[in-house]
Amino acid sequence: MNAIIDQDDNQSPEYAIHTRNLNLWYGTFQALFDVDLSIRNGMITSLIGPSGCGKSTFLRSVNRINERLGYVRIEGDINVLDNNIYDPAVELVQVRKQIGMVFQRPNPLPISIRDNILFGHRLHNKGSKADPDEIVESALKQVLLWEKVKDRLNHKGTELSLEEQQKLCIARLLPVKPSVLLMDEPCSALDPKGTAAVEELIWELRGEYTILIVTHNMAQARRASEECIFMLMGRVIEHQATEDLFVTPEQKETADYIEGRYG
Ligand SMILES: Nc1ncnc2c1ncn2[C@@H]1O[C@H](COP(=O)(O)OP(=O)(O)O)[C@@H](O)[C@H]1O
Ligand SMILES: [Mg+2]
Repeated sequence: MNAIIDQDDNQSPEYAIHTRNLNLWYGTFQALFDVDLSIRNGMITSLIGPSGCGKSTFLRSVNRINERLGYVRIEGDINVLDNNIYDPAVELVQVRKQIGMVFQRPNPLPISIRDNILFGHRLHNKGSKADPDEIVESALKQVLLWEKVKDRLNHKGTELSLEEQQKLCIARLLPVKPSVLLMDEPCSALDPKGTAAVEELIWELRGEYTILIVTHNMAQARRASEECIFMLMGRVIEHQATEDLFVTPEQKETADYIEGRYG
């Protein structure tokens, strides 16, 4: 069940994501400053802060998506499950297998629901003897979508409602057996009902995956996460158990933000 344990005879590490002195520049603009974060294995951690503070930049660094942009420069270390993912010996495909990402706008492929679920699995688990029908059913059941779509698995994923598309985008990560799921405002394109449904689903995944979720919605952070990180202008201001961060923040900037004093 737990991919970390499958991959490693040692005990699973305490931290799934561990960064030291992480600095990032887009050209000459510095977007991250000395980010030192230790994100616990198997937990849901939320990342909050005003627009432009570097939340997406941090997530994209952990998945090595930023490097597609030629003008990004990164200094410092990012370890995922004790592997330095920027080590030249580490292959990008291995990083992507361990780390799944969900984006703000659902981005299913314009292929069938079934093929959406099997796409990553076919790419990453070549030669797998697992039964594709079982994989599809199990992944869709985990995201509570199976009953809705089981009779139309050949319909395009892009024909689903936004809420269902986002659930599909989560479901298609699961057969790859990632250890870490990065979610960048996964509910921001959804209506309140869709938001509630997807949040509930994220809770269901607790314990099986390490989840790092960016949200603008503080009620969501409070409901859906065990630890919470507050960022401001490219720096980590505070990282605490979620309830402590909201009830007794240590930093004035955190208190100002959660009291709504800035966007
Ligand atoms: N591809 C990019 N090129 C140049 N600057 C960027 C790029 N992406 C983000 N930035 C800048 O980096 C800062 C952090 O952005 P971002 O990580 O998207 O913040 P958040 O997700 O917290 O809203 C912002 O000032 C933003 O304008
Ligand atoms: Mg963002």
